[in-house]
Amino acid sequence: MREFFYRHSRGVTRVVVGKGLRPEDYLAGRRAVYVVDGGAGVAVEGALVLSGGEEVKGLETLTKIYAFLSERGVDRGSALVAVGGGAVLDVATFAAGTYMRGIGLVLVPTTLLAMVDAAIGGKGAVDWGPIKNLVGVFYQPEAVLCDIGFAAGLPDRVYRAAFAELVKYGVVLDRGFFSWLSENAEALLRRDEGALEQAVYRGASIKASVVEIDEFETRGIRQVLNFGHTVGHAIERISGLLHGEAVAVGMAVEGEIAAERGLMSGEGLRAVKDLLARLGLPTSACLTEAQVAEAKKLVAFDKKRRGDVVLMPMPVGLGKWVLEEVSVREVEEALEGLRCTA
Ligand SMILES: NC(=O)c1ccc[n+]([C@@H]2O[C@H](COP(=O)([O-])OP(=O)(O)OC[C@H]3O[C@@H](n4cnc5c(N)ncnc54)[C@H](O)[C@@H]3O)[C@@H](O)[C@H]2O)c1
Ligand SMILES: [Zn+2]
Repeated sequence: MREFFYRHSRGVTRVVVGKGLRPEDYLAGRRAVYVVDGGAGVAVEGALVLSGGEEVKGLETLTKIYAFLSERGVDRGSALVAVGGGAVLDVATFAAGTYMRGIGLVLVPTTLLAMVDAAIGGKGAVDWGPIKNLVGVFYQPEAVLCDIGFAAGLPDRVYRAAFAELVKYGVVLDRGFFSWLSENAEALLRRDEGALEQAVYRGASIKASVVEIDEFETRGIRQVLNFGHTVGHAIERISGLLHGEAVAVGMAVEGEIAAERGLMSGEGLRAVKDLLARLGLPTSACLTEAQVAEAKKLVAFDKKRRGDVVLMPMPVGLGKWVLEEVSVREVEEALEGLRCTA
């Protein structure tokens, strides 16, 4: 078992990575109520069970959670323990941050993506209409318990998709971690527990270090986490790829733009693509003309767009980054490159 702490406006969050972790051990005797992701295969007596996945991120779920908390007489001295994938954690974070203006919150991520990304950093949200995460809060949990035992139950594709975010951390923030991932790719693919514990610990720590210096995304630093996500988001829904798979393609495409600008060498870009491929992730996609047109429309609506340019974090070599203004035209050309030729 390993742990670290990160600091923020509400104090400090304790992040624990290990196996067989028990939330009761991290509650300091306080009363806890549980919200559980039905897909995670965990049974907790008296818990509110939610169906997992993106559909759960709506106002109806918030209403359900508020009703559950109020029926049980939950007060500010109690804690909500949320067990599940990123979607359940996002909506539970929103509920805990707003119920009575904030109650205790402990997160137990059950997918690898939630362990290294969604559970870290205090962003809670629900979707509104077609727009993801439109309504939300920043509300940091007191503890995040990453139990790598949950990784065993994940379908292969879902398991591998999470590696995209880990590779992202290596490429833009930590060259040493990139090398470590290269050396341990095979161990990670066979779900070796030692390698997994190390990967989750290092990945979560890297994300936490960014959150510590730009908790509310106002200093132009937390944006680094969007590497691969401009193109990734544009192709995610239309291509049927999982989020991590779309981000892997996004990193390859955005990496090409970085290489063209001389920020990254051809050799560096090849190393990134090789690692993604070894981890079972795509580095290209085959889109129809209609899909390319749809992806271009989505870039036009991107939150990061300012006039004719998109502000995009780009790798500088391996392990460093810079925020670059990329013209919408350039992103569109890059998307053209994903059109099927056959
Ligand atoms: N708050 C943040 O900073 C942040 C960061 C990244 C992603 N997210 C959000 O996280 C969500 C994606 O999270 P996700 O990738 O964990 O997917 P998810 O929460 O949608 O879960 C995917 C599926 O896996 C099931 N599941 C959960 N645990 C399982 C387990 N141990 N074994 C088998 N199945 C399991 C769920 O029931 C669901 O059907 C998105 O809504 C995204 O916006 C948030
Ligand atoms: Zn992502």
